[in-house]
Amino acid sequence: MPQRPFTMLGRQDITFIGVSADHTGVTGSNTENDAVDQTQSTRMCMGSHTNLYLSYCLTLNGGKGKSMERSLSIIKPDGVSKRLVGEVIRIFEDVGFRIAAMKMKKLSREEAQGFYYVHRERPFFGELVEFMISGPVVLMVLEGEDVIMRNREIMGATDPAEAAEGTIRKRWADSKQNNIVHGSDGPESAMFEINYFFSGIEIF
Ligand code: CMP
Repeated sequence: MPQRPFTMLGRQDITFIGVSADHTGVTGSNTENDAVDQTQSTRMCMGSHTNLYLSYCLTLNGGKGKSMERSLSIIKPDGVSKRLVGEVIRIFEDVGFRIAAMKMKKLSREEAQGFYYVHRERPFFGELVEFMISGPVVLMVLEGEDVIMRNREIMGATDPAEAAEGTIRKRWADSKQNNIVHGSDGPESAMFEINYFFSGIEIF
C-alpha cells in the first residue's frame, strides 16, 4: 500500500467506511508490512469510524431524533481579502447556525493538497491548491439542524454563474475556483473535514 504523510490524508479516507481498504495513516499503521490482515484491519476501521460517527450524531442530537449536525465552513482567501469575513459570519448567525469553533490560518501546500485530495486527478487541482494557500482562510465549525444542506443552499452553486440569487457565491464569487466559501457536502465529509482542522478541545 502506498504511503502518504498524515497531512496528505484526504476525503478518500472516508470512503473506506463503506468500501475501500485505504485507511493509510488513519490508524497510524501504514507500513508495507501491515498487510497482515487487511480485511480484519479494514473491518476494525469501519467499525471504529462508524461507531465514532454514530456517537457523534447521538451526542449532537441528544437522542431526540432531531437532525442536528456540524459542517466545516471555510472562508477562502478571496473571501478574506475582499473583507467578507464579517458579512459571511453575519449570514450564518442570522439564519441560526451556531459557530462551534473558529480560527484563521494560512494553509500549507500539504494541508491544502490533503484537504482536497479527492480532487487530485482533476485538471484544476494544482491551481485550486495554489489559490487556497495564497492567503489566510477562516475555518469554522457550524452547528445546527440540517446545517450541511442548509449551508450549501446559502453558499449557492460552485459556479457563481449558476448560483441562485442572494447566495454568497452569486453575490461575491468571481469564478468556480474563487468562490468565497467552502462547505462540507455530506455527514461523512463533514466529520473528516472538521477533524482535519480542529481537535475536540477546540470545538465548543
Ligand atoms: P469547494 O466547495 O471548496 O470544493 C472543491 C473546490 O474546487 C470548489 O469549491 C472550487 O473552488 C474548486 N472547483 C470545482 N470545480 C472547479 C472547476 N471546474 N474549475 C476550477 N475550480 C473548481
